[in-house]
Amino acid sequence: MVVIASDHAGYPLKEEIKAHLEEKGIEYTDAGCYSPERYDYAKSAQKACDMVVAGEADKAILVCGTGIGISMAANKVKGIRAACCSDYFSAKYTRLHNDANALCMGARVIGAGLALELVDVFLETEFEGGRHQTRVDQIMAIENDEKVY
Ligand code: RB5
Repeated sequence: MVVIASDHAGYPLKEEIKAHLEEKGIEYTDAGCYSPERYDYAKSAQKACDMVVAGEADKAILVCGTGIGISMAANKVKGIRAACCSDYFSAKYTRLHNDANALCMGARVIGAGLALELVDVFLETEFEGGRHQTRVDQIMAIENDEKVY
């Protein structure tokens, strides 16, 4: 299960991503926003990320204008590793190396064609583990105010 969310700036791209997921038969839930009316990205980010942390969704796909605000908000939720991506390589390697559980994109930065490619590679790529697990553990330790240096 994937949870998808956006602010008003990301709303049209969110709808395109939903249609894409439907075409591919990928189950998703929409955590808002539900219209192009102004809607703050922190609300959507927290709602979607809470679902990931609660185990109600495996991964989040988050869209705002730049992808940055929504990724900053997402990364404040304990247990979330959100990556703001606008290229294929980053969307792939943030799964391989960072075990990212939230993909953030900027609807004012990239077009729908690229966004859908990023969604696909993000959802299809497994975490490599191994030496990368240690680094992911360190990220999560920082989240718990532990010193990793
Ligand atoms: C909304 O105007 C815009 O600020 C927001 O979508 C996002 O780009 C913030 O990071």
